[in-house]
Amino acid sequence: MRYCVITYGCQMNKNDSERISTFFDENGLESSLPENAELFIINSCSIRQSAIDRIREKAKKIKSENKKLIITGCLLKEDKKEMQEIADYVLSTKEIFSNPLPFLKKKEENYFQIEPKRNPPTANISIMTGCNNFCSYCVVPYTKGREFSRPKEEIIEEAKKAIEKGCKEIWLLGQNVNSYSGGTSFSNLLYEINKIKGDFWIRFTSSHPKDFSSDLIDTIKSCKKVTNYLNLPVQSGDDEILKKMNRPYTIDQYKKIIYDVKKNIPNITLSTDIIVGFPGEKEKNFHNTVKLINEINFDMIYIGRYSPRPQTEAFKMKNDVSQEEKKRREKIITEILKENNLKKNKTYKGKNVKVLVLKKIKENSFLGKTQCYKTVLIESQDELVGNFVKVKIINYSPWGLKGKISPK
Ligand code: SAH
Ligand code: SF4
Ligand code: F3S
Repeated sequence: MRYCVITYGCQMNKNDSERISTFFDENGLESSLPENAELFIINSCSIRQSAIDRIREKAKKIKSENKKLIITGCLLKEDKKEMQEIADYVLSTKEIFSNPLPFLKKKEENYFQIEPKRNPPTANISIMTGCNNFCSYCVVPYTKGREFSRPKEEIIEEAKKAIEKGCKEIWLLGQNVNSYSGGTSFSNLLYEINKIKGDFWIRFTSSHPKDFSSDLIDTIKSCKKVTNYLNLPVQSGDDEILKKMNRPYTIDQYKKIIYDVKKNIPNITLSTDIIVGFPGEKEKNFHNTVKLINEINFDMIYIGRYSPRPQTEAFKMKNDVSQEEKKRREKIITEILKENNLKKNKTYKGKNVKVLVLKKIKENSFLGKTQCYKTVLIESQDELVGNFVKVKIINYSPWGLKGKISPK
């Protein structure tokens, strides 16, 4: 049977899909393009209503073409019921591996034992699953359950294998990597992976400000392979809103972390996540977010328009910011980011940087990332994907840099 996995959501879902692929291959199924597939597996994301709406449409389309369909991943109970009426099977991620499905011969109780199908140069490695934080807007604690950290030995082994397979960018993933507790601290885990022989970079996401400790700063500084890039979601620049979000820190505390990071690692690039239009977010609250963004000068901001989700605490609050207003606030933040980044990216012009080439976008055109996670477009007649290359920056835009291969 030919199968196709369709993945929605975060890198952790991607990683689960890579395990599903290995497992199905081991069961004698054959991975294929959507047009040739007889069986579809949708790995779903519930973070926003729009994601689940798209998934429902996709599922209906697949079934209207008389294909077999499994839906898995992050689903709320409400959506699960509805999906059960559309799909042949609705299973949790664990159940995909442990449930006897008619077309699968094997079973696996601990799906982390299954090696993800690697597609160098990037290796996603979930080091933990679930979340204990219950931010008032977020479904993750309901869809993924409580926090569970994988044993460090398992993770180190998986990293070694990925590096042997040619992966050069190791992403350590979790909803809150700072609270990793699989037999050692997160910092120690980074030290251990940094010791593995080979030419590769280590990245991680996400960190939570409440668990951020200064030893992570020392670790980033001392481990050469750990990149100078930090995603530290703030969600809002306003203390009142943070409280309603159940994010247990103040903006002063957040800023202190950022200043410590910047002081100790001057060339760090910073990204954050922000939700606009949370219930009760007035102009003055939003203004504080704008102020924070201007002050910190983030390199990237992942902006989400607040989307009410069943089961969460915030679902009981009044969704009182209109969609137009959410869009307007999103646009304001995007404009600031654009302006600040244009200035920042300009300073790269003429400089030489090391880039890991991640993909080919068209003939003679490639996309890569610097160790600070800046996007670089490279034109070259050589096949570059999967290699570290030295690039001279010849142009820039708010969203990235353009470079050409430096002569050796
Ligand atoms: N664990 C990470 C992020 C998890 S979800 C953290 O704590 O930061 C990824 C991002 O989706 C969040 O950072 C948040 O900005 C956004 N998000 C989560 N729930 C949302 C909702 N209901 N509406 C809009 N954006 C949401
Ligand atoms: Fe969601 Fe908060 Fe957990 Fe992040 S920390 S996954 S936003 S509940
Ligand atoms: Fe979505 Fe689940 Fe990730 S809800 S963002 S796929 S943890």
